[in-house]
Amino acid sequence: MYQIPRGTRDFIPEEMLKRRFLQQRMEAVFRRFGYGEIQTPTFESLELFTAKSGASILDELYNFSDKGGRELALRPELTAPVIRCYIERLQMAPKPLKLFYFGNCFRYDRPQKGRYREFWQAGCELIGTDTPEAQAELVALAYSILKGIGLQHIVLNIGNLHVIHALFAKLRISDAVKKDLLPFIDKSQYEDLFSALRANDISQADTEAFLEILQTPDLDKIQAYVRGHEKAESELARLRDIMELLQTSFGIPDARVKIGIVRGLDYYKGLVFEIEAPVLGAEKQLCGGGDYELVGLFGGTPVAQAGFAIGFDRALLALETERFTFPSPSLDAFVIPVTETAIGTALTVAQQLRSQGLTVDLDLLRRGIGKSLKYASTQQSRYAVIIGPKELEGGTVTLRNMKDGIQSSCAIADLTAALFV
Ligand code: HAM
Repeated sequence: MYQIPRGTRDFIPEEMLKRRFLQQRMEAVFRRFGYGEIQTPTFESLELFTAKSGASILDELYNFSDKGGRELALRPELTAPVIRCYIERLQMAPKPLKLFYFGNCFRYDRPQKGRYREFWQAGCELIGTDTPEAQAELVALAYSILKGIGLQHIVLNIGNLHVIHALFAKLRISDAVKKDLLPFIDKSQYEDLFSALRANDISQADTEAFLEILQTPDLDKIQAYVRGHEKAESELARLRDIMELLQTSFGIPDARVKIGIVRGLDYYKGLVFEIEAPVLGAEKQLCGGGDYELVGLFGGTPVAQAGFAIGFDRALLALETERFTFPSPSLDAFVIPVTETAIGTALTVAQQLRSQGLTVDLDLLRRGIGKSLKYASTQQSRYAVIIGPKELEGGTVTLRNMKDGIQSSCAIADLTAALFV
């Protein structure tokens, strides 16, 4: 017996119904915000993903050489591919460019609930503007999508990497040490961070102040802490504008400043944000994004870039955990030829109804009326359309409402109208 590869999943029809429902809802919001869809290949040159992150990312990649000896990788995310495409084909397009995507990604992660080796992202890239209103709109889009699909409880945290770097500069922490400390911040492991700072000869008072700033949502406190660091001060002013716009113009009251957001990927530079679904426990991060620089690195003309990606599978898991009611599969009608002589008419009637846009199936097993009715109810059919010798003779059908079992005779010519009620 063959088995599905570790960390991958099959999706059977009832699961696909939920996934497509969710995908369509997400796409509708991207379009409402003026985004156009982009699709890129599933595999790319390996270098596209190692250019920024170096060889260390190889552990996480599915990479291979093809028969022509090219070094390739299955995409672990879509930002680098979209930027590659932008440089090849879209640099001259009017700005800002608003691109959204939906696609599978591959990471050699340790599989667990909410963490897969093949997973899907719904995301977007905004190219050509970094005004506070553009960045606020980007964050609002991510939030609107997750609220729009029906999630009740999500947490939106917003930070800025320039400010974190200013915190490190204030404590005179070297780049090498910073690199070791960032993962603790990324994972909110503040006790380990405390010990590591103390081990690097940072005083108890300085360590405590540093930890407080990483966790406080109070912009005034953060501002007082970084006073004198020009870049951090201007970035904090921008963050204040973004928070204000989110609250007043986008009606998002619960965005929270969290300076201790680092993000795992190496290309971010200023704004960073994350949205979590606390119901998911360990793998609760639904969405991550921010502003970054890849265009220059890939040889394009430098331009502002920002974006985010939503973990589609996690968004679905969160909805299921919140007991969201998804649409269930259903038929408008199930046509039952009672005798072999009625099969031709049954097929014609089914076709006629389908051509009117109704969802119709029919008995293809010649299993008789009782079993067919049972099957029709497992398929959640609204009606059964029964055609026997008597009906054939009169040019009618028997229409059975599957909810209450009430039956009536209906001329074939009137059937569509009867089913559209
Ligand atoms: P990321 O944070 O690496 O960002 O991934 C975005 C989301 O994908 C995560 O928040 C999570 O929900 C989901 N995700 C990541 N790994 C897995 C996995 N193994 N299984 C299931 N879901 C997963 C990016 O990928 C950036 N490209 C986002 C971005 C776009 N930044 C700027 N533009």
